[in-house]
Amino acid sequence: MFPKHRPRRLRSHPQLRRMVQEHVLTTNDLIYPLFAVPGEGFAKEVKSMPGVYQLSIDKIVEEAKEVYDLGIPAIILFGIPADKDGDATGAWHDHGIVQQAATAVKTAVPDLIVIVDTCLCEYTSHGHCGYLQVGDLTGRVLNDPTLELLKKTAVSQARSGADIIAPSGMMDGFVQAIRAGLDEAGFEEIPILSYAAKYASAYYGPFRDAAESTPQFGDRRTYQMDPANGQEALKEIELDIAEGADMLMVKPALAYMDIIWRVKQATNLPVAAYNVSGEYSMIKAAALNGWIDEQRVVMETLLGFKRAGADLILTYHAKDAARWLG
Ligand code: PBG
Ligand code: ZN
Repeated sequence: MFPKHRPRRLRSHPQLRRMVQEHVLTTNDLIYPLFAVPGEGFAKEVKSMPGVYQLSIDKIVEEAKEVYDLGIPAIILFGIPADKDGDATGAWHDHGIVQQAATAVKTAVPDLIVIVDTCLCEYTSHGHCGYLQVGDLTGRVLNDPTLELLKKTAVSQARSGADIIAPSGMMDGFVQAIRAGLDEAGFEEIPILSYAAKYASAYYGPFRDAAESTPQFGDRRTYQMDPANGQEALKEIELDIAEGADMLMVKPALAYMDIIWRVKQATNLPVAAYNVSGEYSMIKAAALNGWIDEQRVVMETLLGFKRAGADLILTYHAKDAARWLG
C-alpha cells in the first residue's frame, strides 16, 4: 500500500544530501575566455554580453592576474586584429594580437595556463574560418590550403608561449596537420584541445559581436556540424583522436548535453564543454530583468555540464562561479 522504497529518506537532512551527492563543480573545471584587441588602456563591453569586454593587452594581463588569483587554472584567448585580409595574416604573424597577448600573460602570470583559439575567422576579411577561392561569394572554404595556414598559426602561437592549442575551424584533418606542424617545430609537448564536435549554431551570435567575426556572406554550414546530427559527432571525435588530439570539446553545451554524454562515454580523453556566448547572454538578460536567480541558475547549469560528462567547462561565467565557489 505505502511505498517500501523511499528515496526521500536520503534527502531529509542537508548533511545527508551532501553525503550522497554524485557530482561536484570545482574551480579546477573552469576556463575563462578573453578577447584581445590592439591599443592600450582599452576596455569595451560587448553589447550582447554584459560583463564581457574586448581588452587591450595591458588590461588582459590585469584580468589574467585576477583570474589566477580566483584559482581558475586557465584562460582561452581570442584576438581581434587591427587589419583583416584574405590570407588571415593576423592569425599566423609572430606579432599577431593573440601572440602578443599570450607572451604578455605568460610573462606576468607564468602559472596560468594559456589556451589559444586556433582559427582564421577573426582574421579574414570575409569572416570565414579558412581560405576561399578568389571571388567566391558563397563561403565554401577550401579545406587543404586552410590546413597550411592553421599549421603556421599554431606554431607561431606555440612560439609566443601558448600552453595549449585549440583549433576551432572544423576543417578535415586539422588536428593531424597542427600536430605535425608543432612536432616539426619542436613543440611535441604542447597539447591539442580540439573543437571536435562543433555545431553550426545560432548561439554563437554574441561571440561574433565580441570577435567581430560574423561572415560577410554565406554561413558556416559547409564546415560546422548540422544540429540534427548526433552520430556524426562520434565520427568527428574518432577522427580527432586518431589524428592525435589530447582533449576534445563539444560546442555549444546546453542544447547538446546528449552529445557531451555520448562523447564522454566514447573516449578516455578529457572532454570540455563550451558554454557559448548565446547561452551566457540568455542567462544574463533574464538575470538583469530580475526574472531568475543568476547565481543559482549559473551554478545549476555548470553542474549540469559536469553531470553530462564534461571534465572542463569554457564559460564566461567562470569568474563569478569561482567567487561563488569561494
Ligand atoms: C571561431 C569560434 C567561434 C566560437 C569560438 N571560436 C565562433 C564561430 O564559429 O563563429 C564561439 C564561442 C561562443 O559563442 O562563445 N571559430
Ligand atoms: Zn573560425
